[in-house]
Amino acid sequence: MFDRDLSRRDALKLAVATGGATALSACLSEAEEPVPRGSPSAELPEGQHRWNDFLNTDDAGNHELPPHHVFLSLALDGDGPPTEDDRAAVESAMGTLDRAYQWSHAGLLSSLAYTPAYFGRFDADLAYPLPDPRRLSSFETPEFDTQDALLHLASDRPDALLEAEQALLGEREEMNGLEVETSLSAVFSVTLRRTGFIGAGMPAERQGEVKGIPSGGPVPEESPLFMGFKAGFRGNQATESAVNIQEGPFAGGTTKHLATIRQRLDDWYGEQDFEERVMEMFSPLHAERGLVEGVGNDLGDFSGVDEEVVETIREQARNFGRVGHAQKAARANRDADGEPLLLRRHVESTDDGEASLHFPSLQRNIESFEAVREAMNGADLTDIPTIRQRVNNGILEYIFVTRRGNYLVPPRSLRALPTPTGT
Ligand code: HEM
Repeated sequence: MFDRDLSRRDALKLAVATGGATALSACLSEAEEPVPRGSPSAELPEGQHRWNDFLNTDDAGNHELPPHHVFLSLALDGDGPPTEDDRAAVESAMGTLDRAYQWSHAGLLSSLAYTPAYFGRFDADLAYPLPDPRRLSSFETPEFDTQDALLHLASDRPDALLEAEQALLGEREEMNGLEVETSLSAVFSVTLRRTGFIGAGMPAERQGEVKGIPSGGPVPEESPLFMGFKAGFRGNQATESAVNIQEGPFAGGTTKHLATIRQRLDDWYGEQDFEERVMEMFSPLHAERGLVEGVGNDLGDFSGVDEEVVETIREQARNFGRVGHAQKAARANRDADGEPLLLRRHVESTDDGEASLHFPSLQRNIESFEAVREAMNGADLTDIPTIRQRVNNGILEYIFVTRRGNYLVPPRSLRALPTPTGT
């Protein structure tokens, strides 16, 4: 009996990562409450990235992403531009999704985004800048997302997520009780399935099962991330309006960079004590002033990476022999009014049995993401003797980028196979 319960718990814990019909039936058998139904697409926010008003918030008002995530890389069959029939099929499938699940953490949040390679199928130029993905540091060798599209699904409910995925892919006839007339599989095939999770306790619960985390269970119970801190403080995130495309056919949409990053945390936990981890994650000043307790809940709605922390980075590097990840990134993450430019929505993953991270970042221009990544590389700080390209330089020693992709996230009304001019 005990064993059976344990294996059911394990099956549920891994359900989204595993995927498929068996995982779904395990979740459905546990589901106690119905999943709330959705609305016609026209009644939903035009920006597919407009999630914040429909998320939970913590005590400090920070937005909390839903715990379960799937990222599907989608490729169109054949060459050349898609047809009107293809477009109608995608429109129908996504319209059913909107009606089947409430646009919220309790139902399902989604976004369907397109690569430069997709827009390359057309003769016309894309009416918004969207560069090809490229290496963003001298020490990475990522593969690039060159398929057509990316569908991101997120929910509190693994059953809703798995059911939606399977219905969209033509493996189920209903979504939350609504009949699916056309599935995405009429035009797309899945080339890569990535899964993610985020939330206090979830990394600790999985730490014994993945490569990249040393033995002994170092990940704190209350941490939402494998590295032991929380991220995404409201005051250090761009607002959804700040990442909006403002003009042209894609106004109301945004751009997305998606990186996949492997974590190897043996030295993070084995060689650094808590104070050193605070220095490398936030800043030496954070450690000196004792600003971070535990996973950082005490910081409230702002990480404490303020002008002083950013501007005295070289002095801190000289005095403490290290620099922090957040203080470095912040150097490029402010607009002229001092407001953040990137809206990070990263989640942890155990895909391929490795502690990893799927890192979607939304910003008005991909350029802003690239600039932040360059600032995070900290190559300009390596003239200080103790700072090396990957040592004492934030968290670079422990993370390895394996994939990068750039995407346009069109407004909802153009999310079905848009043309480059939005006609
Ligand atoms: C394992 C990987 C990563 C972890 C665990 C992590 C964690 C964190 C934490 C704890 C903070 C401070 C709290 C906050 O403001 O959210 C932070 C800040 C930040 N991180 Fe990361 N991060 C990771 C990778 C990245 C990557 C790849 C980028 C992209 C270039 C990035 C960009 C940023 C930015 C822009 C900030 C906010 C700085 C500011 O403007 O105040 N992070 N990160």
